[in-house]
Amino acid sequence: MPKLSDRGRRLIESPPLPEYIREHFQRAGEPWHRERNPNAYVSLCIAENKLHNDALNARLAEIDVPPRVLGYDAMHGNALFRERLARFMGRSFLGRTFSAEQIVVLAGAGTVLEMLCYAIASPGDGVLVPTPSYAGFWFDLETRDELKIVTADCSSNDGFKLSPAILSNTLASADCPVKALLFTTPNNPLGTVYSRDEIEAIVDWAAQHDIHLIIDEIYALSVFGTNDFISVAQTCPALGESIHIVWAFSKDFGASGLRCGVLISENTAVINAVSSLAYWAACSGHTQHLLSELINDDANVATFINESQAKLAAAYTRVIRALEANAIPYFAADAAFFLICDLRAYLDEASWPAERRLWRKILERANTNLTPGEACRINEPGFFRLCYAAETTDAVEAAIGRMSKVLSSLKGT
Ligand SMILES: Cc1ncc(COP(=O)(O)O)c(C=O)c1O
Repeated sequence: MPKLSDRGRRLIESPPLPEYIREHFQRAGEPWHRERNPNAYVSLCIAENKLHNDALNARLAEIDVPPRVLGYDAMHGNALFRERLARFMGRSFLGRTFSAEQIVVLAGAGTVLEMLCYAIASPGDGVLVPTPSYAGFWFDLETRDELKIVTADCSSNDGFKLSPAILSNTLASADCPVKALLFTTPNNPLGTVYSRDEIEAIVDWAAQHDIHLIIDEIYALSVFGTNDFISVAQTCPALGESIHIVWAFSKDFGASGLRCGVLISENTAVINAVSSLAYWAACSGHTQHLLSELINDDANVATFINESQAKLAAAYTRVIRALEANAIPYFAADAAFFLICDLRAYLDEASWPAERRLWRKILERANTNLTPGEACRINEPGFFRLCYAAETTDAVEAAIGRMSKVLSSLKGT
């Protein structure tokens, strides 16, 4: 064993990437094409939106980049960029404007969550996370921060509804001091927005229990159903010391590779603590400049978001039609770029090994990679997340057809 610290060794012994992502990187190659590559691997497991990438790329290519971006700047974000972010986010989904001083820019939302939690919790402390959940929170909070995620499990019986009672029961049985609740709207992996009432109930619950409330609004602008997105900033007159909002360009702009995440907080101590970590995870000056110019053009950015939402709506409609045509049950979504399929009927027994077996059969026989529900910490085996915006909708439809053949071959086995 090379000379490593205990923590270095831990990273090697339990690599933070789960199996479905490792398989994804091994298999990803030439894209699916109806004539040229009909059997190609199709990824339905990564929450990326590539449907409007060409438009963003074209817009970014028009922006002049001055040489000053090559030099050092404020590590927690260029001042002009943070001002523009405050205006853009206020206008487009927060419903009110924060000041540039209440904003920190870092390399992606995952980094924001890691550094925010570093500042508000100590090793061994707990963070409540409702499930189903985004799988990455475990790497973000448990790897370097050494926190413990305590899951508040929602049930498929009522469409995975979250209630204050579920949170209270979880808190009462937690075996560590819980410092924060991390809540995501629109939800990943459900692809649904929470209503004003639901958000107010969460805010009240967190206030009653005097814990931090981190609201991950990374899909705020990827909403296409009849339910409007409501930001926590619209539900309370002040965030106060305990509510913190996280957002990034990764999803709503389909720009996860640019690594630009944003923290909004009215807690000056939190902002200062996170800012002092920013040096280790700054967003590049080049990227900040491009994004700053992008969001400063109100008309252009509004058009981009509208077009992107229309593309998501069209893709979603085609995907649910394909699922229905193949009799694959799913939970309806109204936001983001994924939904949950219910494949419990195809498990050879109700267990996690059976879910893993089914995932692998679909991967190997249909060359299609779904996110297993186990990764999303769904508390019952047999649910899978299907992401439909990382590939063309033609490819997603073809993959659903291939998957359906595998499922049919399993029925009754
Ligand atoms: C809910 C949620 N939060 C955070 C992230 C991480 O985003 P980023 O790529 O900006 O680190 C993701 C990515 O899938 C996500 O779905």
